Amino acid sequence: MKVLVTDPIADAGLDRLREAGYEVETAYDVEGESLLDAVSDANALVVRSGTDVTEAVFEAAPDLVIVGRAGIGVDNIDIDAATDHGVIVANAPEGNVRAAAEHTVAMAFATARSIPQAHVRLRAGEWAKGDYLGTELNGKTLGIVGLGRVGQEVAKRLGSLGMELVAYDPYIGQERAEQLGAELVDFEACLEHADFLTVHTPLTPETEGMIAEDELALMEGGYVVNCARGGVVDEPALAAAVEDGTLAGAAVDVFADEPVDADNPLLAVEDIVVTPHLGAATEAAQEHVATSIADQIVAAFNDEPVANA
Ligand code: NAD
Ligand code: MLT
Repeated sequence: MKVLVTDPIADAGLDRLREAGYEVETAYDVEGESLLDAVSDANALVVRSGTDVTEAVFEAAPDLVIVGRAGIGVDNIDIDAATDHGVIVANAPEGNVRAAAEHTVAMAFATARSIPQAHVRLRAGEWAKGDYLGTELNGKTLGIVGLGRVGQEVAKRLGSLGMELVAYDPYIGQERAEQLGAELVDFEACLEHADFLTVHTPLTPETEGMIAEDELALMEGGYVVNCARGGVVDEPALAAAVEDGTLAGAAVDVFADEPVDADNPLLAVEDIVVTPHLGAATEAAQEHVATSIADQIVAAFNDEPVANA
């Protein structure tokens, strides 16, 4: 059996596949024709967010049994095409949840206290102590859009730091929200109450662009943190809202197009903190998702149930 890996995953996952006796080929950064060529004799394909697994990929890979996403979001995989071609799609929904929650907390503090901006100036020799008067998270209201695995871990962490919690998630029960100390409210109320808004939904046709100019206008003076998916928050609208002072700041880990273009409007605004999709970038998280996907490929090849298909 041949496993093609087109985005970097932890060695522990590659080792597990090799120990199971499979041929493991790594081909990072392949796209277009070279991706189609590389996948043509693969029985499994392992990706993170860097590979678009389109209909053409399934057509080019007649022997493909499973596509494993070493992470949570499967928005880069054409699920309908996978179904049409009888290919299993599996992800690793648990392994990077805490890493993503911690990065979200870090990004909230980074924007509230302008840490990266002050860092850059100090490294350039400027003692800009007088230029930064930050905002405390303590006592402020956190609006959480999407109270799933990551959203819940963020609620626990920022709730314990003294934030009031409101959440919008039409698919979660009031009881679960209450257990986390969060009040479930409608979307508009979530935006209106939030001093900080944090986004934790998948990217779906329903969530794409759900936070745009009109929604940001309801958050006068607030901060937006997006460590979920780029397309959920409209990028030009967010850049404009921070630039014109409607919002105090933002912190963004994920972008509609990645790697991000140098002319992306979010990169040009001083009060927007950016990181290159680092939410899951911890050793523990990467090891966990890589071994989880390897285990599921082994299961699929052995005709056993695939845990997160
Ligand atoms: P999850 O499926 O556990 O939770 C998502 C939640 O969003 C669910 O509770 C769902 O009900 C809710 N939701 C769906 N549609 C909604 C809508 N229209 N309005 C409000 N809520 C809605 O997913 P998760 O594991 O918590 O991951 C959340 C997001 O974070 C995903 O997009 C995932 O890909 C992303 N993620 C990013 C990183 C990173 O590296 N930055 C790391 C991990 C996860
Ligand atoms: C995810 O959805 O799990 C994230 O995008 C993490 C990643 O793979 O970088």
